Amino acid sequence: MASHQVFSSFLFLLCLLQSIRVGYPATFTIANKCTATIWPAILSNAGIDQRPATTGFALPPGESNTFSVPTSWSGRLWGRTLCSRDSTTGNFSCLTGDCGSSAVECAGGGAAPPATLAKFTLNGTGGLDFYNVSLVDGYNLPMLVVAEGGTGGNCTTTGCVVDLNNGCPSELKVTASDEGVACKSACEVFGEPQYCCSGPYATPDTCMPSSYSQFF
Ligand SMILES: *[C@@H]1O[C@H](CO)[C@@H](O)[C@H](O)[C@H]1NC(C)=O
Ligand SMILES: *[C@@H]1O[C@H](CO)[C@@H](O)[C@H](O)[C@H]1NC(C)=O
Ligand SMILES: *[C@@H]1O[C@H](CO)[C@@H](O)[C@H](O)[C@H]1NC(C)=O
Ligand SMILES: *[C@@H]1O[C@H](CO)[C@@H](O)[C@H](O)[C@H]1NC(C)=O
Repeated sequence: MASHQVFSSFLFLLCLLQSIRVGYPATFTIANKCTATIWPAILSNAGIDQRPATTGFALPPGESNTFSVPTSWSGRLWGRTLCSRDSTTGNFSCLTGDCGSSAVECAGGGAAPPATLAKFTLNGTGGLDFYNVSLVDGYNLPMLVVAEGGTGGNCTTTGCVVDLNNGCPSELKVTASDEGVACKSACEVFGEPQYCCSGPYATPDTCMPSSYSQFF
């Protein structure tokens, strides 16, 4: 095992997605522990030329799917929900996390906010692998990343396994048929510097928690 391979696996729960990495190159297993179908999506960072074979697929409840990523891959994974194909145009789209490709494969498209994002940098600083689950672009699904079999690093399980959709403040809430399906960030809704940590609020000292960020 190469020394940079701190984590030999990721478990990734996307309502819940689960990802397992076994050796070289890295392997992700995404498991859907939700009660409805989810369409996971993968976006490689700019400048990453070796990419996983898939950029999006359907994942029925209780099922999982495995794919490899190159050793020094970096990028993000998220889940799309409430997807369908337009019967007239044939175009595929999703109510949350849509990547704008009009197809199940995202092919380089990013997530339309709000969406819970799992971000990865493999073989980063010091040869370590880094990952986190981000709600900076809002929330659409619970997600958990579990690294398995790693050595030499802090392989803490991370994510957000709480359903924030129904408790979402009404000014941030995205609904479909009166059900909460996603929760926007206050920055996206209000565009104010104090919520976006921009302008005079751009440093850790001046970017203060708000009632909205504390909800997340
Ligand atoms: C269907 O998708 C294609 C490719 O993205 C796009 O060019 C076209 O405008 C879409 N059609 C509709 C009706 O959205
Ligand atoms: C989250 O992970 C991504 C990818 O490793 C990294 O670029 C970003 O800086 C991380 N964010 C935080 C707040 O740690
Ligand atoms: C890990 O990253 C280092 C520094 O960028 C690079 O030299 C090395 O080839 C990478 N390891 C693998 C196995 O890709
Ligand atoms: C590992 O990371 C978690 C979460 O950031 C932290 O609570 C814990 O103290 C860290 N453990 C070590 C050994 O660094």
